[in-house]
Amino acid sequence: MKERRILLVIGGGIAAYKCLDLVRRLRDEEMRVRAVMTRAAAEFVTPLSVAALTGEKVFTELFDLDDEHEIGHIRLSREADLLIVAPATADLLAKMAGGHANDLASTLLMATDKPVLAAPAMNPRMWLNPATQRNVAQLEADGVHFVGPNTGEMAERDEAGPGRLAEVPEIIAAAKTILAERRSVTPLRTGRPLAGRHILVTSGPTHEPIDPVRYIANRSSGKQGHAIAAAAAALGARVTLVTGPVTLPDPPQARVIRVETAEEMLRAVQQSLPADVAVFAAAVADWRAAAAPSEKIKKSGATRALELVENPDILAAVGKEPAQRPPLVIGFAAETGDVVAYAAKKRKAKGADWMVANDVSPQSGVLGGDSNTVHLVTANGVEDWPPMSKQDVAERLMLRAAEHLRRSTAAAE
Ligand code: C5P
Repeated sequence: MKERRILLVIGGGIAAYKCLDLVRRLRDEEMRVRAVMTRAAAEFVTPLSVAALTGEKVFTELFDLDDEHEIGHIRLSREADLLIVAPATADLLAKMAGGHANDLASTLLMATDKPVLAAPAMNPRMWLNPATQRNVAQLEADGVHFVGPNTGEMAERDEAGPGRLAEVPEIIAAAKTILAERRSVTPLRTGRPLAGRHILVTSGPTHEPIDPVRYIANRSSGKQGHAIAAAAAALGARVTLVTGPVTLPDPPQARVIRVETAEEMLRAVQQSLPADVAVFAAAVADWRAAAAPSEKIKKSGATRALELVENPDILAAVGKEPAQRPPLVIGFAAETGDVVAYAAKKRKAKGADWMVANDVSPQSGVLGGDSNTVHLVTANGVEDWPPMSKQDVAERLMLRAAEHLRRSTAAAE
């Protein structure tokens, strides 16, 4: 990542202080960082500290004649390889979505022809406010990349929820992905056939509590689901990823909702509809404990039975949903034998349009591994795909989805 140039736009929020660490880490990655601060940002961190860390002059005002003479704002925005907006406040996002250009930061963002990565940070209610969500959807459709916000404690006491600035390593990973994609522009990546579409993906296992410290789980790594979310975003979609507990980094441009149990996953999926495509790649636990006491269960020397009840089937709930059923519903069928026959049965039983069938018997190495051999089961028959990486399966599947949507939109017109 040598010689990459970052223009960091620092917005005015309590998380602005984290930009000091961000600048240091970007420089550790041998990136050159130039910073622009909004007037409000300068209330949270001083331009002097930012300048000390970037080793460059920090720009703050639009009408600074000297700077305009030295380096115009158009040049400032174009000399970078990537613009990072962190923290991207509700106000900055609104300005960006509305096309305002009334200070240096917003003017640069309007004038740039380079990719923009926004790392939002704000109070959870401001993030969930329909105006902010509208602005984010607009910006995503315009091709702005997002990382975070994360969910957790806020700076204000007793406030928790979505709105924490993504962690510095997450912002750096997202920046590197965007820069790498720009370098190796493959014909696939130059197009954005899923632009304007909303793709909902489930991924990972679920954890079903037995008591406060124990749970039922499975061996799903989430690699295939996360790869699908990343591929959909790379093809221009707005992506919501509902994931069970995994150890993978968030795909850069997806909105990530973390859940533990099947019931939480169902709720998050239903709240994320409508979508143009829903892909159910999660390995949802089929059962949960009938009762999970709030105290740890003690040993008693005797055998113990664990009573299980069936979890809701999320794919079936959405596949058979009459009101908000996405136009394309894709399920996965992981089996240890007769994979295609089972997948074809499940496609019908669960109301899916397509099923991606794969063999997860231990000798296949699919669970936790990096490659996959799948069969795509549709109403028209079965396609056997050659062995390929989970990334390639994801890209091919999302390209197929884009083509399907394009055709059905064309047929409807
Ligand atoms: O577990 P099963 O083999 O039936 O999973 C097939 C498909 O159904 C997968 O796409 C999986 O994500 C989905 N599924 C679900 N909710 C469940 C069980 C499975 O969405 N409770």
